[in-house]
Amino acid sequence: MDPRSPLTHSSAVYADYNGTTPVDPRVADAMMPFLTTHFGNPSSAHDFGAAPAAAVRTAREQVAALVGASASDEIVFTGSGTEADHLAIRGVLRAVGAASGAGSVSDGGTASGADSGTHLIVQATEHPAVLAAAEAAVADGADVTILPVGPDGLVDPAVLAEALRPETVLVSIMHANNETGAIQPIRQLADAAHAGGALFHTDAAQSVGKVSVDVDELGADLLTVVGHKMYAPKGVAALYVRSGAPLAPLLPGGGQEGGLRGGTENVAGIAGFGEAARLCGEELEAGSVERMRALRDRLAARLEELLPGRVRLNGPREQRLPQTLNVSIDDTRGMDVLAGASSVAASTGSACHAGADAPSPVLSAMGVEVPRAMGALRLSQGRWTTPDDVERLAQSIAEAATGRD
Ligand SMILES: Cc1ncc(COP(=O)(O)O)c(C=O)c1O
Repeated sequence: MDPRSPLTHSSAVYADYNGTTPVDPRVADAMMPFLTTHFGNPSSAHDFGAAPAAAVRTAREQVAALVGASASDEIVFTGSGTEADHLAIRGVLRAVGAASGAGSVSDGGTASGADSGTHLIVQATEHPAVLAAAEAAVADGADVTILPVGPDGLVDPAVLAEALRPETVLVSIMHANNETGAIQPIRQLADAAHAGGALFHTDAAQSVGKVSVDVDELGADLLTVVGHKMYAPKGVAALYVRSGAPLAPLLPGGGQEGGLRGGTENVAGIAGFGEAARLCGEELEAGSVERMRALRDRLAARLEELLPGRVRLNGPREQRLPQTLNVSIDDTRGMDVLAGASSVAASTGSACHAGADAPSPVLSAMGVEVPRAMGALRLSQGRWTTPDDVERLAQSIAEAATGRD
């Protein structure tokens, strides 16, 4: 770990790494030349283009290596995870030729839909980026099925198998959930999709860099990677596209990214993303999963000790990101607890819903009742979390939940 912690701005304990991660100082160092000396356009044939083009090439190799891609040209850089999700979903549907006219939405795979000829399957606890891409696909003429999840937030592969139709083109199911950390049984889901003749996309924004992610082991044809969840800056992400998978660009332009995403590359951001991928690979090798799991389980144990009988885990106990703890504290509202615990920087759900006085749609889809969902806290740890931080988090939250300060 870099000794230069970027967490100097506030004395609060940062427990919102799923919302976004700090930029690792080594990542910032790797970006700097491309904000200063090496400002050239990587597409330029002259000398100023050479170093930027080499940096983009290296970063592509580094991101490819982290996710186990067999060739670096399977990585398409985008401007955000949201864009990568839209490119995967709408790009595949466009490439295979979505039917014209409005499609329809059904849930649970039971409704037969209008049979427009193009069918997409997603699931209920996806990030809004995927759900919005699915909505856009409906407007473009596709039929969409939104699969339900069980009480643990996981999709049953048998339910997916039931929902597949001969015209299903793509199944998109996230690897790890941003709120609960629930890790879907991606291999079985991808196998089911492939058995039905469909392609498989997974939004791995929250899992890449936190656990080992290998596109072949997962069986993914397309996979979203997001820089600002893995210590790179915001505004840089990637879509892994297996060689031969059909994909049409959403932003055609100057032919960048193999013609799949026009726009002059964000060279500094991409260089940082590559370095971040390299560092995550190193940390995973050095045992970051075990370190994170120990901190998370210590936090859960301390909360249970300080608030006996009042702490309920949301999401699966085992199949979960090692650094994500989503708990509801009985007889509290998450918003009030966080307001009372000023030394804690955490979230009640996804950052997109922060401040909203409504239960998280993810917890609602899992069947969590409203009072418990309103009591939820998402505590996510990362590279600079220490055992002292964990103790401070537990103490502050327990004090706020018992009305003491
Ligand atoms: C699971 C998941 N997918 C997609 C995104 C969107 O990424 P971005 O903020 O880069 O658009 C996020 C970010 O919160 C996420 O957690």
